[in-house]
Amino acid sequence: MTAANKDLVARAIAAQARAYAPYSKFHVGAAIQISGQVFEGANVENASYGLAICAERTAIFAAVTSGARDLEAVAVSTTSSPPSSPCGACRQVLLEFAADPTKVIVTAVNPAGEHRSWTLAELIPDGFSGRELP
Ligand code: THU
Repeated sequence: MTAANKDLVARAIAAQARAYAPYSKFHVGAAIQISGQVFEGANVENASYGLAICAERTAIFAAVTSGARDLEAVAVSTTSSPPSSPCGACRQVLLEFAADPTKVIVTAVNPAGEHRSWTLAELIPDGFSGRELP
């Protein structure tokens, strides 16, 4: 892992501590590097279960709301072994802001120190994007 990546992972772990997951008890933290800035997110659940939002989308929506648009890297922290990768919905939302998905590194970690990484292109190959719209 590069130094920049280690920092992003540390931010994802910090965000995980702020997850609101009283129903699933599955706490997720995310940190994204986008337009040279870092934004954190955590999953936020609801008594109406289907309204839960994932950590990755919380982070990217905060970033986009701040005006950042150029996704560079993602880190996700869960308690799973092996570390969990982002869900399909989050992959699609992340893809929206990736100028080149082959250059966006997604790193997944857990408290045991295990880590896995992929490019976003590997996680959502041949994904649908606005580039296909007229
Ligand atoms: N979750 C995430 O935050 N990110 C993912 O990529 C997968 C799932 C959350 C949603 C829900 O609060 C809990 O984990 C269990 O699915």
